[in-house]
Amino acid sequence: MNSFDAQELRSAFGSYMTGVTVVTAQAPDGSLVGFTANSFTSVSMDPPLLLVCPGNHLSSLPVFEQVEHFAINILSHNQDSVSNLFASSKSLRFEQVAWEADEHGSPILSDVAASFSCVVHQRITAGDHMIMIGQVTGFSSTNKGGLGYSKSGYFSLEKERQADSLALSGIAGFTGALIQYQHQLLIQFDENGLSIPTLALDNQLGARSTLTKHFSSIDLHASIGPVYSLYDDEDQGTRYTFLKAIASSNETRSLGKYVPISSIDTQDFSNLAQRNMVARYIREYQSQEFGLYIGSSQTGEVHTR
Ligand SMILES: Cc1cc2nc3c(=O)[nH]c(=O)nc-3n(C[C@H](O)[C@H](O)[C@H](O)COP(=O)(O)O)c2cc1C
Repeated sequence: MNSFDAQELRSAFGSYMTGVTVVTAQAPDGSLVGFTANSFTSVSMDPPLLLVCPGNHLSSLPVFEQVEHFAINILSHNQDSVSNLFASSKSLRFEQVAWEADEHGSPILSDVAASFSCVVHQRITAGDHMIMIGQVTGFSSTNKGGLGYSKSGYFSLEKERQADSLALSGIAGFTGALIQYQHQLLIQFDENGLSIPTLALDNQLGARSTLTKHFSSIDLHASIGPVYSLYDDEDQGTRYTFLKAIASSNETRSLGKYVPISSIDTQDFSNLAQRNMVARYIREYQSQEFGLYIGSSQTGEVHTR
């Protein structure tokens, strides 16, 4: 036994950025099992080995303790909903995604970045998890970018790069941040109503570094996350790039004040594009599935991550 705080240890482990996989198998009775796992690691080229760590908490653990074969599906950058499906309520998982069985009956999910069919090579009990080592019997791979996972949130390098290159394309612009602290969002209040903290974009730096520099100059401690909304205001000829950020304290450094997300009244935002953005944030906050809006201040598309 040790005296570590479990939450703090989990959060420290969660600092390690990973991809996301879904581990699948066909149980001896023919039923299908699968769970989301980021404990995947490639291990050896010769023989070709990989590992994943199923936990004792899994409803499917008895199956993974017995099966001879399993498959690893490496999720692609817009499959966060598939990750959530295989990490939450376990009913009817395979009825909600497209898949095909590999030669041993393990489900290979559609649109994944890569997949590996495996025969179990070794199982090692390790505390409250098992290290399951598989020897690769077949694989397929695409040029799709993978889904990333860090600090309990998904990210997509592809979308980040797309947004950053748009943000750096030379149009005069502004950047802002949806800064969350616990269940609250940092909102500015002035005579025109509510707004999201925004500042002039330094084109040389790009949106992320402009914000990082500004936060550090005002001593605001917030970790800046993915781009959340990127739109052009055609009337003004300007571009707005908003990023998500998570503050580590409720200190606002005079940027505004923290308002519980559940009690933000979007009608009080004078700017329509910001009003729509915050309304989306409030909605997506419920499901914790945050998309990326790309478009104009009036119309555009929300890309799921
Ligand atoms: C990103 C992510 C990574 C995860 N990685 C693992 C893992 O490596 N091993 C594990 O046992 N559970 C992992 N989990 C938790 C399981 O996916 C989750 O508990 C799942 O619901 C278990 O399936 P069950 O509901 O059938 O028990 C992860 C969850 C998420 C969201």
